[in-house]
Amino acid sequence: MYVRNVEITDIKTESRDVNTLFFDHSFRFIPGQYVMVWIRGVDEIPMSLSYVNGITVRAVGDATAAICALRVGDTLGVRGPFGNGFRVTKPPVLLVAGGVGAAPLAPLAESLKNNIITILGAKTEEELLFIERFKSAGSLWITTDDGSAGHKGPTIDLLDRIQGYNEIMSCGPEKMMRKVLDHAIVAGVPSQFSLQRYIKCGVGLCGSCCIDPSGLRVCSDGPVFAGAQLQEGDFGAYMRDTTGRKVNL
Ligand SMILES: Cc1cc2nc3c(=O)[nH]c(=O)nc-3n(C[C@H](O)[C@H](O)[C@H](O)COP(=O)(O)OP(=O)(O)OC[C@H]3O[C@@H](n4cnc5c(N)ncnc54)[C@H](O)[C@@H]3O)c2cc1C
Ligand code: FES
Repeated sequence: MYVRNVEITDIKTESRDVNTLFFDHSFRFIPGQYVMVWIRGVDEIPMSLSYVNGITVRAVGDATAAICALRVGDTLGVRGPFGNGFRVTKPPVLLVAGGVGAAPLAPLAESLKNNIITILGAKTEEELLFIERFKSAGSLWITTDDGSAGHKGPTIDLLDRIQGYNEIMSCGPEKMMRKVLDHAIVAGVPSQFSLQRYIKCGVGLCGSCCIDPSGLRVCSDGPVFAGAQLQEGDFGAYMRDTTGRKVNL
């Protein structure tokens, strides 16, 4: 797939280390799909579309810091959208969003207006993303690690308190998602999870993003997987680094 040159038309500072960048181009996408973003001279990395014309980036290393340092009028190369996205079959849906994992879930919430319950979690109040977007799409429960907003503790603390949904969809730290999967299994509801693995080619060729033991590729078979596909194996336990070595989560 060819690289599209996009110009940054607006930038919203979401928190100390998270920016949303808006482009001069809108993508046709299913919430959960991602684009490969080429920061010239630095790297090409995967980013979920958080808007039809935008991405929301947490600065964690060289490439993401370079994106967060860009200004209006700068340009990026973008390939995609890639991957499968979330597939809702039986609303209402419970969304569980941790940190920047809210990025692919906010457009999903908007597409399912009034058929959504969201648990939105972050370390602190300042780091909660898209509160208004989730609130206007349905009911919203908030958690923070330090108790600065909502329930003090992890998102999973609230799972037992919430009822009235037929499916669970989640994106965030993998250890959190593993606990969400364990809850979904006990509750007997289907679930879907958006995974982050080390993505190089983005088109299913290099094998860098495979999950164990199935060998499914996050870049092209995912990044969204059904809970049933993740029950056994590396989910919530480890992923692989740039060299293929296992890194415990
Ligand atoms: C499908 C998908 C969607 C994503 N969506 C978002 C998003 O919406 N917002 C956001 O802030 N982040 C998102 N990420 C994570 C983002 O791609 C990484 O944070 C980024 O690649 C890190 O690059 P870096 O050079 O800044 O940091 P590095 O120093 O390279 O790495 C920092 C951390 O990011 C991980 N990482 C590095 N490169 C990749 C890669 N190519 N693929 C996957 N993980 C990597 C490493 O394991 C490491 O833990 C997504 C990842 C995937 C796979
Ligand atoms: S990143 Fe190359 S196969 Fe997935």
